[in-house]
Amino acid sequence: MDAAGRRVPFDAQQVDAPLSRSAVFLVVTIGPSPEQLRTALEVVAGIDDLVKSVGFRDLGANLSCIVGIGSAAWDRLGRSERPAELHPFARIDGPSHAARSTPGDLLFHIRAERPDFCFEFERLLLEQLGDSVRVVDEVNGFRYFDARDLLGFVDGTANPTGRGMADATLIGDEDAAFAGGSYVVVQKYVHDLATWNAMTTEEQEAVMGRRKADDVELDDTEPQRAHKTLATITDDDGNEFAILRDNMPFGSPASGVYGTYFIGYTRRLWVIERMLQRMFLGDPPGLHDKLLDVSTATTGTTFFVPSLQMLEGLADGTTAS
Ligand code: HEM
Repeated sequence: MDAAGRRVPFDAQQVDAPLSRSAVFLVVTIGPSPEQLRTALEVVAGIDDLVKSVGFRDLGANLSCIVGIGSAAWDRLGRSERPAELHPFARIDGPSHAARSTPGDLLFHIRAERPDFCFEFERLLLEQLGDSVRVVDEVNGFRYFDARDLLGFVDGTANPTGRGMADATLIGDEDAAFAGGSYVVVQKYVHDLATWNAMTTEEQEAVMGRRKADDVELDDTEPQRAHKTLATITDDDGNEFAILRDNMPFGSPASGVYGTYFIGYTRRLWVIERMLQRMFLGDPPGLHDKLLDVSTATTGTTFFVPSLQMLEGLADGTTAS
């Protein structure tokens, strides 16, 4: 549909912007000087205008962008308050696999139905940021058939929907100064597809806990729990604490790289941390998530996602002197 026919569909910082065909995951660190910090904050304060500049050219492309701020960057903002749960990604050393912790001051999660929109937005963003930042990681994600990961399974099915999405992702009265914000955790996983493809479909389904062809959930009865069970966190009454995932495949057949970029939004950071502990340490301890035998986490970073209003005011507290 052309621009004249519709309004811009999404504000920047809208965590519930729809899953897309394309995404860019951009992680940067901010340079050490106060001027570099100020430039970076001024650019992110204007992110909504940039979404409009690029997004208005085809509203059907559904361009959206979410900015996350890392723990060390938050400490430089000169604010007396900080989000209650914000801290750097805590490394986990399991018996067989490690969840490593890697640097990142800003995350840009750029989504669109058209890869050219992600590209153009990232190009203009980096132009504005100039030498205030250094890119530490850039991943181009793409939709793979019916939202499958490169292991061949449909990924994202159990995500919350409707009102459940805001309940699961947006901070509320429990941390009133940061209400409307969220936490986001990212990890870049690289797969050993040769090992995975040597397994039978039944073995793969036992690892994931869902049928491969039609995505139907399987009962999990063995002591070795499936990924979907290890990643399910409940309270004492059995109510689930959901998170919102927007994982994307990435890779290059020519270089033999096949990966999944994990991204999870949550109102309660501890929920994702508990999921990671169950995956890497196992439950019962020792029986880790077998998904990790074919998936190596090469990055791991945590960010706070301020509401748009808070993001727009962040540059106000800093001075360039
Ligand atoms: C290599 C990386 C990963 C891959 C390929 C992957 C793939 C999948 C697949 C195929 C499912 C089943 C369908 C669905 O409900 O989406 C699933 C479920 C899930 N995954 Fe992952 N995942 C990965 C990493 C993670 C990580 C790191 C976390 C959390 C820290 C996580 C959390 C979840 C959750 C919460 C569910 C839904 C469980 C349920 O309630 O049924 N995943 N994942």
